This record gives sequence, structure tokens and C-alpha cells, in this order.
Amino acid sequence: MRSTLALSFAITASSALASPLLDIRDSRGISNTTGLPASFNQTTGASNATALNCTSFVKTFELTSNNTLLAIPIPTGAKAVSDLVTDFVSVNTNFTGEYLVGSNETTGSYDIWMQYCEPAGGATKNATLELIHGINFDHSYWSFNTSSNGTEYNFIQAAANAGYATLAYDRLGVAQSSKPNGINVTQTATEVAIANAVAEALRNGTLVPGNSVQPAEQVVAIGHSYGSAQSHGLATMHPDAVDAVVLTGFSTNGQGVPLFLSASTYSPASEVNATRFGNYSNEYLLSGTIQGDRQLFFYNGGYDEEVFVKGEAARQTVTIGELLTLGGPIAPPQAASNFTGDVLVVTGSHDLVYCAGGCIRNGTNLPAEVQTLYPNAGSFETYLPAYTGHAINLHYSAPETYAYVFEWLSQHGL
Ligand SMILES: *[C@@H]1O[C@H](CO)[C@@H](O)[C@H](O)[C@H]1NC(C)=O
Ligand SMILES: *[C@@H]1O[C@H](CO)[C@@H](O)[C@H](O)[C@H]1NC(C)=O
Ligand SMILES: *[C@@H]1O[C@H](CO)[C@@H](O)[C@H](O)[C@H]1NC(C)=O
Ligand SMILES: *[C@@H]1O[C@H](CO)[C@@H](O)[C@H](O)[C@H]1NC(C)=O
Ligand SMILES: *[C@@H]1O[C@H](CO)[C@@H](O)[C@H](O)[C@H]1NC(C)=O
Ligand SMILES: *[C@@H]1O[C@H](CO)[C@@H](O)[C@H](O)[C@H]1NC(C)=O
Ligand SMILES: *[C@@H]1O[C@H](CO)[C@@H](O)[C@H](O)[C@H]1NC(C)=O
Ligand SMILES: *[C@@H]1O[C@H](CO)[C@@H](O)[C@H](O)[C@H]1NC(C)=O
Ligand SMILES: *[C@@H]1O[C@H](CO)[C@@H](O)[C@H](O)[C@H]1NC(C)=O
Ligand SMILES: *[C@@H]1O[C@H](CO)[C@@H](O)[C@H](O)[C@H]1NC(C)=O
Ligand SMILES: *[C@@H]1O[C@H](CO)[C@@H](O)[C@H](O)[C@H]1NC(C)=O
Ligand SMILES: *[C@@H]1O[C@H](CO)[C@@H](O)[C@H](O)[C@H]1NC(C)=O
Repeated sequence: MRSTLALSFAITASSALASPLLDIRDSRGISNTTGLPASFNQTTGASNATALNCTSFVKTFELTSNNTLLAIPIPTGAKAVSDLVTDFVSVNTNFTGEYLVGSNETTGSYDIWMQYCEPAGGATKNATLELIHGINFDHSYWSFNTSSNGTEYNFIQAAANAGYATLAYDRLGVAQSSKPNGINVTQTATEVAIANAVAEALRNGTLVPGNSVQPAEQVVAIGHSYGSAQSHGLATMHPDAVDAVVLTGFSTNGQGVPLFLSASTYSPASEVNATRFGNYSNEYLLSGTIQGDRQLFFYNGGYDEEVFVKGEAARQTVTIGELLTLGGPIAPPQAASNFTGDVLVVTGSHDLVYCAGGCIRNGTNLPAEVQTLYPNAGSFETYLPAYTGHAINLHYSAPETYAYVFEWLSQHGL
């Protein structure tokens, strides 16, 4: 029996399309981008950005979280990682019974690297946006760009243009943040506790050193992929932490999870690239092939090759503990029954990881099923950018997506 640790629950109901999709494909099924609007070309519209005022720092959090104990030793090398993944994705294996041995109230001290940005002269909106990146990325997912002046593929810049302050961080285990035991400590429960502490500190005005930033009146968690799973965990476990969640690259559909784990061809990061990760412990993994990442994160015709190559060169690690608690701090994911804020789900129409390549099926909008997890939300909406795969921020559709998100926030008083 396949594990229930990951996002492995099925769609049960259908609902009407929340947004129209104009996705033209040729006779071979390859997307035809000939008719794309001009704004799909990222070099347009990058000319009149608001100046950014950013400060980066490391914040230490002392926290307790209920972690999952996994009877898994530090892998000895690539073979041990492959064997584990095979066991996890295979039918007729008893993965949960074999490896899930209990839970542990885990206390730790974690250093998290973060960057706070606001429009020069101050934010004009009351909501601060807490940005939580997904697997393969670090905080720079939110300010990815290929141009010399850095306004392209830049959610943080677009947010500043719209008047919002943002707080982006390297998740626990990633890049410049702490890298504790990646089996039993660097896991979803710990990271949700960190996301909650970040929101609290934004609200009480103590996050930025010197308390130089006013307490945030409102906080919105905006995740991508695994960062969305953590945002959902936040809404579930700490329903008052944030006023709204924007879950990008997300759904309740688990079909793509085995594809994701297999196509990532994970190995210890230190073996994949000793230059970048030579001092990482072996339970910190890196995807093994450029081909797998292309399949999983990008939609043919919807992105610039230069962006893809740059993303690959900068790709970051994930731990075994994170992969085995992907579904959330409570697995399978539970409803955020006490969350009364607003919810927006933004998933690429061709997301392979969360929709197995098709988010619209026979008139059913798969990401709309997320509503079943939010029975008491103030509002619920989905937006499915066309010609777009899993790495939403790295596709041509990004400016359209930003415009939608900021308009949605504004319409909801945020
Ligand atoms: C692509 O779309 C354009 C405009 O919609 C159309 O004129 C063209 O024939 C299409 N090309 C193919 C190969 O389908
Ligand atoms: C994007 O726009 C620029 C400026 O108009 C143009 O030079 C470039 O060829 C366009 N790129 C694509 C991929 O259409
Ligand atoms: C960014 O670069 C483009 C192209 O070189 C230029 O037109 C634009 O003025 C620059 N924008 C800023 C904010 O510097
Ligand atoms: C951990 O779980 C136990 C049992 O459900 C609960 O009493 C405790 O408050 C939880 N601790 C944390 C830090 O969430
Ligand atoms: C995680 O905890 C389990 C249960 O205590 C233990 O068997 C396993 O060795 C631990 N793994 C690591 C890498 O510490
Ligand atoms: C899975 O393993 C657990 C723990 O060893 C055991 O209790 C359970 O019966 C096993 N389930 C199956 C279907 O083999
Ligand atoms: C539980 O977590 C604590 C840290 O809070 C750690 O010292 C202890 O070894 C953990 N127990 C197990 C069984 O992993
Ligand atoms: C930049 O932000 C800092 C607080 O982090 C503030 O003290 C300073 O006045 C801001 N500068 C501008 C030009 O807005
Ligand atoms: C921010 O909050 C204040 C009240 O605290 C309100 O007067 C103002 O309209 C709000 N601004 C925006 C942009 O919502
Ligand atoms: C940038 O220029 C466009 C077109 O002139 C305008 O609509 C938009 O509001 C400007 N954006 C900013 C942030 O000034
Ligand atoms: C603010 O929130 C942080 C994070 O939870 C906490 O550590 C800190 O003690 C709080 N400070 C005040 C003054 O409430
Ligand atoms: C490892 O990373 C370095 C630095 O980014 C890069 O130059 C090198 O090509 C990478 N090596 C491999 C095998 O990917």
C-alpha cells in the first residue's frame, strides 16, 4: 500500500470553472504561443518599477513542534536514496508501517535568513506578504530575474509596485538558513512553527532588527508548492496567524506526487554538486537531472530557456524528512476548519506536480477542490494561468498572475 504520508487523497466532487482558459494547442498537442498577449513577453513592462527598500538579516527562533519520527538512518549514498524513493512510490509496499515510528515534541533553535522589502517611502497597503518558497528553490524564487536591473519575474518588485511590503525567507534547511537533522527535524511541522513565528513577529513589530518596521496590521501567507502546503498547515494549526492565504502551485490531487519523487532522481546533494553542497549531510538531497526538473516544473512553450537554465544552476536542496511529510504537519492534510480568512489558489493550467499535467479535466477545475479544506473561509477563488507549469513565477504568464493576485488582495481589503 502506498504511503499516506504525502498528498495522496482523491478528488471527490466537481465544481464549475473559476477562470476561463485560453490555451491553444497544435495538432501534436504542443502549445501554440503565437497568439499570446504582449505581456507574456517579460521584457515589456519592466521599465517603470518603484524603487525597493530591502533589508536582509538572520533571525533565530526557539520553537517546539510535534515532529514525525522516521526510522530512517542518514543515507550512505545515492543508492540508499533511490531505494527509499522506490519503496515510497511503489504499490504494495508498507512504507508508513515500516518507517513511521511515532511523534516527538521537538524543541530547537533555528536561524532563518530573511529579506524584508518595501517600496521606498513605505508601503501604502496594510498587509505584509509572507512569502514561502517551494522545493528546488530558495527565497530568490520570489525575485527571480534575468535582466540587469532585476525587474523581470520579480514578485517582490511587482508587490512593491502595488504598494505591498514583503518578507521572503530561506526555509529551514535551505541555502542560508540552519540545516539540522534532515530526517526527524527539518520537516513540515517545524517549518509551520517557523512560519507562524514569522507572522507573529511581523504583527508585533519585532521581526526586523531594531524594530524599525511598524507592526503589520495584516499578514498574508503566500506559498509556492511545498510553501503552499506549509501555508495550509499554518491556516490549519494557527488559524489566526494570517488574514488570508494565497496557495500557488497547489491542489489536493496526489496523482503527480510519485511522478515528482521519481523524476527528481534525488541523490545526496553533496554527490550531485560537491562545489555547492560538499559540506551537507547526506539526507539533504538535490534533484539529479536537468531533464527531470524540466518535465516537472516547466510547460513547453510557456517559458524562456534562459530562465530555465538559470533556475537549474541555482536549484536548492530538500530533506528526506520534508519529502515524507509533504502533505502537511498532519497527514493526510486536514481541513483548516477554523480558518475564516480569504483563500486564493493559483495553479498553472498544466502543473505536472499537482495536477499530473492537467488542472482542467472534463470541465472540472482540480485546484477548486481545495475549497473542501476551507469550510469556513471568508471567500474562496482559483486562478489558473494558461500555458503554465508548476514553477509559476518562472513562466511568461507571471506578470498576468501578479496582476491577478494584487487585484484579488485589494478587492479583499488587504
Ligand atoms: C497558432 O495560433 C495562431 C493564432 O491563434 C494561428 O494563426 C496559427 O495558425 C496557430 N498555429 C498552429 C501551428 O496551430
Ligand atoms: C520581447 O520583446 C522584445 C522588445 O519588444 C523583443 O525584442 C523580443 O524579441 C521579444 N521576445 C519574444 C520572445 O517575443
Ligand atoms: C530596466 O532596463 C530596461 C531595459 O534596459 C530599461 O528600459 C528600464 O528603464 C530599466 N528600469 C529601471 C527601473 O531601471
Ligand atoms: C503536540 O501534541 C500533543 C498531543 O496532541 C499536544 O498536547 C501538544 O500541545 C503538541 N505540542 C505542540 C508544540 O504543538
Ligand atoms: C529518527 O528517529 C528515529 C526514532 O527515534 C530513529 O530511529 C532514527 O534513527 C532517527 N533518524 C535520524 C537520522 O536521526
Ligand atoms: C505495516 O507495518 C505495520 C508495522 O510493522 C504493521 O503493523 C501492519 O500490519 C503492516 N500492514 C500491512 C498491510 O502489512
Ligand atoms: C525528541 O526531540 C528532542 C529535542 O526536543 C531530542 O532531544 C530527542 O532526542 C528526540 N527524541 C527522539 C526519539 O528522537
Ligand atoms: C527603508 O526602510 C528602513 C526600515 O527598514 C527605514 O528606516 C528607512 O527609512 C527606509 N528608507 C526609505 C527610503 O524608505
Ligand atoms: C489601512 O488601515 C487603516 C486603518 O487602520 C485604514 O484607514 C486604511 O484605509 C487602510 N489602508 C488600506 C490601503 O487598506
Ligand atoms: C507603469 O507604466 C504604465 C503605463 O504607462 C502605467 O499604467 C503603470 O501604472 C506604471 N506603473 C508604475 C508602478 O508606475
Ligand atoms: C513577538 O513574536 C515573536 C514570535 O512569536 C516572539 O518571539 C516575541 O516574543 C514577540 N514579542 C512581543 C514583544 O510580543
Ligand atoms: C556545481 O555548481 C557550480 C557553481 O554553481 C557550477 O559551476 C558547476 O557547474 C556545478 N556542477 C555540476 C556538476 O552541476
